[in-house]
Amino acid sequence: MISVKSLTKVFGEKVAVDHINIHVKQGEIYAFLGPNGAGKTTTLKMLTGVMRPTEGEVHILGTNILRNPVKVKREIGVVPDEPKMYPSLKGWEFLEFIRKVYRSDDKETRVRMENLLDIFGINYLDRYIFEMSHGMKQKLMLVSVLMRKPKVIFLDEPSVGLDVIATAVLKELLKKHATGGGAVFLTTHILDMAQDLADRVGIINEGRIVAEGTVDELRKIAGRKELEEIFIKLTGNEERLREMLEKL
Ligand SMILES: Nc1ncnc2c1ncn2[C@@H]1O[C@H](COP(=O)(O)OP(=O)(O)OP(=O)(O)O)[C@@H](O)[C@H]1O
Ligand SMILES: [Mg+2]
Repeated sequence: MISVKSLTKVFGEKVAVDHINIHVKQGEIYAFLGPNGAGKTTTLKMLTGVMRPTEGEVHILGTNILRNPVKVKREIGVVPDEPKMYPSLKGWEFLEFIRKVYRSDDKETRVRMENLLDIFGINYLDRYIFEMSHGMKQKLMLVSVLMRKPKVIFLDEPSVGLDVIATAVLKELLKKHATGGGAVFLTTHILDMAQDLADRVGIINEGRIVAEGTVDELRKIAGRKELEEIFIKLTGNEERLREMLEKL
């Protein structure tokens, strides 16, 4: 469902993403982990047609995203790290806007929307987006994406700002999406989230994928048990962490 070959992004002198390859199959949840500035958001932007790669290819559901961006965008759902929504719309106006833009203002979509609003406990659709907290906007964004039932969902740090219940709900919804024949690509700093959700984890460091596999496979590669230890070892930060802790 997602196929990435030799994907690269260079900003001036900085190689933010360095010839990475990723493949995500139907039914899979893929979690992308890495330190701040490792290249996760840049990768996600290139996978969703928001940013043009310097080099490399991205195919989503067999379609080259640069050749046919509109077709791809119609079939995917994207939850960015900072939900960019029109602040002067009310919650319900935003959802209507999305349904119209995606030409999915049908009964099934509206039923799914009502259901999702209920599950997330959203009772603030009459408020303006500028009045909403980060978590409130994030939940609204999730509803606007999930109601369309996209085949592939991309999420950039989706649990930032979400409360405990909303995070648990989101995890279940993503699992259901995958088992229902979809695919999920998400970035996260919450290792529990990756551990609970992901069929496969990719660890990116300074633009390169340094390890990839199931959590069990990564345990073997790193010779460590906890995902936190695996992450710190594989990103080459064991020494740095020790030095920093000594300074405290
Ligand atoms: N538009 C841009 N122009 C110049 N440099 C950029 C741009 N966007 C990102 N970068 C650089 O690319 C590198 C990767 O950034 P990116 O946002 O992809 O990191 P990230 O892994 O998502 O980090 P975080 O965990 O903090 O969200 C960083 O060095 C960043 O400064
Ligand atoms: Mg990021």
